[in-house]
Amino acid sequence: MALERTFSIIKPDATRRNLTGKINAKFEEAGLRIVAQKRIHMTKAQAGKFYEVHAARPFYDELCEFMASAPVVVQVLEGEGAIAKNREVMGATNPADAAPGTIRAEFAESVGENSVHGSDAPETAAVEIAYFFSGLELVG
Ligand code: TYD
Repeated sequence: MALERTFSIIKPDATRRNLTGKINAKFEEAGLRIVAQKRIHMTKAQAGKFYEVHAARPFYDELCEFMASAPVVVQVLEGEGAIAKNREVMGATNPADAAPGTIRAEFAESVGENSVHGSDAPETAAVEIAYFFSGLELVG
């Protein structure tokens, strides 16, 4: 499998509860390397642009409010098959369905406040990384 990069966000529910280190440990234990990372506080408009694909969904407004409600940690993770590996470590969107040991099973509060975001495909990973990071900030 090829060395790949994926985009990750540690969401407001997790930064509020001071869980950044515990979540990063899960990534590193799974063999993912954090090659870029910064803490930012998005505006609702910035969150809205990021989640544009969900604009027609009933949860969109609440999701954008939530993502702008506190700082987040945006990251680029690198590893063999990083996109799929990260989705596996994150667990299912709804923490009630997430496999034991996954980030969402251990830390997420609800389907909306579910601690982490991870890209779902190479194309979205590239777009999402470029939305938050310049090439100079990616330090493999
Ligand atoms: P989605 O892309 O389906 O999930 P994932 O984050 O696992 O890729 O949804 C994006 C986010 O939208 C999700 O992490 C939380 C929010 N969301 C809700 O608030 N309610 C919902 O019913 C769904 C499906 C998602």
